[in-house]
Formats: sequence, structure tokens, C-alpha cells
Amino acid sequence: MKAGCAFLCVMFTVLVSSCSQAAEPVLLPEPETDGGKPLMQALSERQTSRSYSPEALPQQVLSNLLWAAFGINRSESGKRTAPSALNWQEIDIYVSLAEGLFLYHAGEHALYPVLSEDVRAVTGLQSFVKDAPVNLVFVADYSRMGDASEEDKDFYSAADTGFISQNVYLFCASEGLATVVRGYLDRSVLHETMRLRPDQKIILAQTVGYPSQADR
Ligand SMILES: Cc1cc2nc3c(=O)[nH]c(=O)nc-3n(C[C@H](O)[C@H](O)[C@H](O)COP(=O)(O)O)c2cc1C
Repeated sequence: MKAGCAFLCVMFTVLVSSCSQAAEPVLLPEPETDGGKPLMQALSERQTSRSYSPEALPQQVLSNLLWAAFGINRSESGKRTAPSALNWQEIDIYVSLAEGLFLYHAGEHALYPVLSEDVRAVTGLQSFVKDAPVNLVFVADYSRMGDASEEDKDFYSAADTGFISQNVYLFCASEGLATVVRGYLDRSVLHETMRLRPDQKIILAQTVGYPSQADR
């Protein structure tokens, strides 16, 4: 089982490094949308953790995590696992891994390479962030929010991010993964590092990984 996971991780690394050069998307395996713990048990176990093992997540777990976070759950309408005001779907999930920074594309269920460097350390100001295998960065694209006022864009993008973050919390509780949503960020440095446009706003980040040995 462990050997299988290690093989998958190596394959993912090879795929990602070759794709980063060609800027080709990495197609994730189909998400496993059945199983998991019963909802009431996942709610009972939902918690914040700040201590992580550096062990990478297998590609299937990353696939399931991103689908749970904000994947498409109704293919006929393209609607998602989390609600969004006016169905703007304005929140993008950037995925910061040791192999680089990627943008999750829900329609293709794929990761688009954005940067080939490891920018995990820049995604937060807490010491565990740089070594945890996955840091998600929730970015609102204000250009998708129509003629809403700036105040409404700020409010709805923050609210919409909360639903996605809670999906991640519940998925992690179900899978025995550790997670923490984070607002303690240097947004201007991260914005510049991620080469975002002025109308893209970083809302929150969320770390995901296996719990450290001490917490297992
Ligand atoms: C919007 C928001 C921002 C947060 N920012 C941080 C953060 O930057 N760093 C951190 O360690 N925890 C952060 N947290 C996690 C909270 O500290 C945590 O949820 C709280 O202590 C309650 O613990 P629980 O999630 O285990 O119930 C944040 C939580 C929320 C909802």
C-alpha cells in the first residue's frame, strides 16, 4: 500500500516536472465521490491542526480533496460542491506543492502549472507552512463579479471562500488529514509572487497534509 502511494507520488512528480516545462495541464484522476465517513462523524471530528508530516499526498487524495473543495457536482449545469453568490464561481483555488504552483480547473478536473518554483513558504507566516505538502490559496477574481460594488465583492468573495474552506475541513476530517485555514498572510508579497492581476484578491489560504507522527 505504502509502496503504491510512493510510486504514485513519484509518477506525479515526474508528470508535473515534465508538464511544468511544457505548461501542459496535469489531469487528475477521477474523484472518488462515494464513501468517506458519515457526515455527523466528520462534523464531530472537524478541527484545526498546526502540525504536519512532510509526506506528500497521493494524487488520488489530491483529486478527491479538490473535488470536495470546489469541484463540479452537477455536470449538466457546471455547478459546484460549494455555493457562490449569483453562481459567480469567482473563487479560484491555487495549489502550492513542492513541485510548484498550480491552478485548479474544475471543468477539466486538472491542475494548470503557474510557477515551477516551490512557493509554499510564501503562502503564510507560520513555520509549519513551508513543509506541509499542500497549501491552497483561495483567490477571488473580481472580474467575474459583474457590476457589484467593491464592498459587495469583498463581502461575497469572503463568504464564498468560507464554504469552500469548510468543505476542505470536512474532507480532511473524513480522511484523517490535518488542515488549518489561514488569514495570517502577507497578501501583497504573495500576490506579487503568484503574479496575480490587480483585480484578483487573495482571500485566505489553507494548509493540508497528514498529521505529524506525534498527532497520529
Ligand atoms: C477566517 C479564519 C482565519 C483563520 N486564520 C488562521 C491563521 O492565520 N492561522 C492559524 O493558525 N489559524 C487560523 N484560523 C483557525 C482558527 O484559529 C481556528 O479555527 C480556531 O482556533 C478554532 O479552532 P477549530 O477550527 O479547531 O475549531 C483561522 C480561522 C478562520 C475561520
